[in-house]
Amino acid sequence: MEVVILPTSEDCAEIAATAIERLVHTKPSAVLGVATGSTPIPLYRRLIRGRHSDASLSYANVHAVLLDEYVGLGREHPQSYRATIRQELTDALGIPDHQVHAPDGTAEDLQHEGQRYEAQLAAVGGVDIQILGIGSDGHLAFNEPGSSLTSRTRLKTLTARTREDNARFFGNVNDVPHHVLTQGLGTILEARHLILLASGTSKAQAVRDAVEGPLTAQCPASVLQWHPHVTVLLDRDAASLLSRAEYYRYTWAHKPAWQGI
Ligand code: GLP
Repeated sequence: MEVVILPTSEDCAEIAATAIERLVHTKPSAVLGVATGSTPIPLYRRLIRGRHSDASLSYANVHAVLLDEYVGLGREHPQSYRATIRQELTDALGIPDHQVHAPDGTAEDLQHEGQRYEAQLAAVGGVDIQILGIGSDGHLAFNEPGSSLTSRTRLKTLTARTREDNARFFGNVNDVPHHVLTQGLGTILEARHLILLASGTSKAQAVRDAVEGPLTAQCPASVLQWHPHVTVLLDRDAASLLSRAEYYRYTWAHKPAWQGI
């Protein structure tokens, strides 16, 4: 796991965007795992700027796969994660709608929707780079504390805290669905490169638990410690509780320029 501490979330966005652009240049049909929430917004804005300033960069053959979706919200619902990612990212990058994949929160057979989605992920060849945020309780995608570390895409019930955290997108906590479909932690671990972004003091404890705490289902994001290629990009505030921050800064400062993340 490489932990990178930078002054601002814009600096983190720059590093992640460079890795994604390099991937798309070398593999035009790359599969990009995307996250919703506020954290990746600076990255998405930076990617959109990059697409406009580099005529040789095309996302026309890229697939975007979502981590999760609310149960009961159709693809046209403005708060569905599918509609959100189209609006925040994929439409502006020129990724065709049929190459944007998400669990279907209105599937008739919700019990088997996870399996269908897993088959779809396999059919596109698996995820090359997966962008991740982290919940204030340490959740990854919608894998709440207690989620099996080997879980697959399935139905989950949100905690009251996550519903409150996400109420700002809905205007009223009562409108936040109780149930979701989410890639499991085992599913997420199959992506070839995981990039976790976190910013702000509200994420500092979760980041500390995930990066320096024990591997435990009580902090689902600690499962990242199990993956061979993880980059954790933190702004100063999100990194404020890390006990080995000095070492992470030292390794970044002395990293060979050719190495990349
Ligand atoms: C949601 C999403 C996660 C996201 C997390 C943090 O619950 N399902 O994928 O990482 O919240 O969101 P934010 O970045 O808005 O803090």
